[in-house]
Amino acid sequence: MIDQANWIWDGQTANTVSPVFQKEIAPAKPLRQAVLQITALGLYEASIDGARVGDALFTPGWTAYNKRLQYQTYDVTEQLRGKSAACLQVTLGNGWCVGRLAWENAYCHWAKQRALLASVQLQYEDGTQEEIVTGPDWQWAPGPVQFSELYDGETYDARIVPQDFRPVCLLEYTKDILIPQEGEAVKEHERIAPVAMFTTPKGETVLDFGQNLTGYVTFRVKGEEGQRCEFSHAEVLDKDGNFYTGNLRTAKNHICVILGQEELTYHPHFSFQGFRYVRIDSWPGQVNPDDFRAVAVHSDIKRTGDFSCSSSLLNQLYHNIIWGQKSNFLDVPTDCPQRDERLGWTGDAQVFVRAASYNFDVAQFFHKWLHDLAAEQAPDGGVPHVIPDVLHDKNHSAAWGDAAVICPWQIYLTYGDRAILEEQFNSMRSWVEYMRSRGDNEFLWKGDVHFGDWLAMDAPEGECVGATDLDLIATAYYAYSTSLLIKAGKALGKDMAEYEALYQAVTWAFRREFLVDGLPRCQTQTAYVLALYFHLTDRPHEVAAALARMIRDNGNKLSTGFVGTPYLLHALTENGYAETAYTLLLQEEYPSWLYSVNKGATTVWEHWDSIKPDGSMWSDSMNSFNHYAYGSVADFLFGKVAGINPDENKPGYAHVVLAPVPDQRLGWVKAQLETRHGLVKSAWRYEDGHVIYDFDVPQGATATIRIAGETREVQAGHFQYIR
Ligand code: BGC
Repeated sequence: MIDQANWIWDGQTANTVSPVFQKEIAPAKPLRQAVLQITALGLYEASIDGARVGDALFTPGWTAYNKRLQYQTYDVTEQLRGKSAACLQVTLGNGWCVGRLAWENAYCHWAKQRALLASVQLQYEDGTQEEIVTGPDWQWAPGPVQFSELYDGETYDARIVPQDFRPVCLLEYTKDILIPQEGEAVKEHERIAPVAMFTTPKGETVLDFGQNLTGYVTFRVKGEEGQRCEFSHAEVLDKDGNFYTGNLRTAKNHICVILGQEELTYHPHFSFQGFRYVRIDSWPGQVNPDDFRAVAVHSDIKRTGDFSCSSSLLNQLYHNIIWGQKSNFLDVPTDCPQRDERLGWTGDAQVFVRAASYNFDVAQFFHKWLHDLAAEQAPDGGVPHVIPDVLHDKNHSAAWGDAAVICPWQIYLTYGDRAILEEQFNSMRSWVEYMRSRGDNEFLWKGDVHFGDWLAMDAPEGECVGATDLDLIATAYYAYSTSLLIKAGKALGKDMAEYEALYQAVTWAFRREFLVDGLPRCQTQTAYVLALYFHLTDRPHEVAAALARMIRDNGNKLSTGFVGTPYLLHALTENGYAETAYTLLLQEEYPSWLYSVNKGATTVWEHWDSIKPDGSMWSDSMNSFNHYAYGSVADFLFGKVAGINPDENKPGYAHVVLAPVPDQRLGWVKAQLETRHGLVKSAWRYEDGHVIYDFDVPQGATATIRIAGETREVQAGHFQYIR
């Protein structure tokens, strides 16, 4: 077993070259089974006699390494069967554990050196077994990967064949943190051919893959020994059509391959990029676009939901949301995949989790990440801004820390997954207790620094924190997370009386502090949205009417940021203003969801105005073109437009609530969702002055159908209504 193995390393702290470790595996007798268990400080890639072991990428994955380090188990029987000796080689790269992460050239968040821990268990036909573990009898040599960093790309020298193997060093490092793989492995997915090759006004040769994505470029090349292939990545072109890398900040995203004598097929080993365009900086001879493919790389999550409608713009938006999720579900839910960030921002994950769980099966993915969240939580319950935590900020922000409560609750709702509530309950409760402990009034969260309604349109020009009162946001989330904690506790059969009383007290305190006659004192769309969606006002009709008025007075445009946007359309629709919600959804002028679509976006942008109407960009300092937060609107497409919802009393779609809200401006809508209880479908279309609804409820599930003011309880089957 892997815990019998010894940590080994190459003893070369300051060396950027990836070491290749080697050991001969010589099965003494006929094999029944051979199993490799392996992990690393850094990233590893293993091969046996030159053939890659498994198809998982960026192993051992990203966790809070000082507390939890995954190892992987591979059946390597077929790679060893019939051989009297085989060569196991393992190359290590820096990755998240040892390499550069976050800002100011920060390295070595968890370990100063790459190291390997592995064991090969050989079970023989005669029932005996043998185990080979990493230790002093292994050897290493410098490999062809000369440099690799997640942000910066890779330099690969194909002329270098590892040789002159030398003894390894042993490393004193704990094995108490080892855990088996928890999330889905990261794997290669779509392979996309360039749609165009062109020369920019500056004279750059650029390949366009037609889709912004996360992964890498793979290519085939044959040249003279020593010739260089170099290229750079970008998400967008600038106003003049030139290659634009300003928004990558210090991330170099540069690939350099030095050719050997042989033809080479290459992709980066320990680096990934967020890109649509590739600039060829150096190439031996003519560039042939057909030699290149962009490979999308993400956690191997299964697609579950699909949405389409009569509007090609909305369909493109949904496509962009799917690609935003693929691009940012690379082992942890990240904010963005391209600049020197790519971190597990809690706020972004919280905002998007509901949409995410319509699009893909993300149960296992969130189990893993939430285990890290709990492991990283401060003793007082504070939740770090990013998980795994590389920022070490002692401050904790409302709407970001609430990921501790909102994410497990959503996974429970979507998948009926009680285990996640059991596993996370203490973490959920301690976040609520953290909020309770702040300031001098137990029932209000006032006076702390927060990210607020991040990137809202009502933020002062060039700034990030929107105009909504920070204390209002913080106390609203305090109430909301407490309400979810109560539901979670009850689902687990716990007595939640203390928290029910707390919830009442926080709600009353919120009303006294932030509302006047039921209406938020703070006159922003987001303040009104929170009062409605979190049920904090006893005058929802007036608040909704005022919100609808604010939107109309704002030219039928939203002004919300990360906090208000995910709930805006729900809050309107649930309170009688579906028409206003659709107006915002179908708005094409800036700021709106469809504005970026009309600007040619293929993923969701970080800012409503990442590219402004005049073609200029929001500042380089923070301008991702692949941020899923505003893609949270997918949960409105599924939950309200198509009306497919779980029932919190019978979660996991054991009972389905089908309550579509049609609008004539969308002629037809179709959505389907593969649930734990089978395939649910909902569709509607306008025809001859009627709305025709079609629903499918899978065997084993039941449903409530709510349309045109009527409610029906049904069993499995197909149902059609004309209204
Ligand atoms: C990230 C965001 C994140 C924010 C917090 C940014 O740099 O990209 O998406 O939530 O910081 O303020």
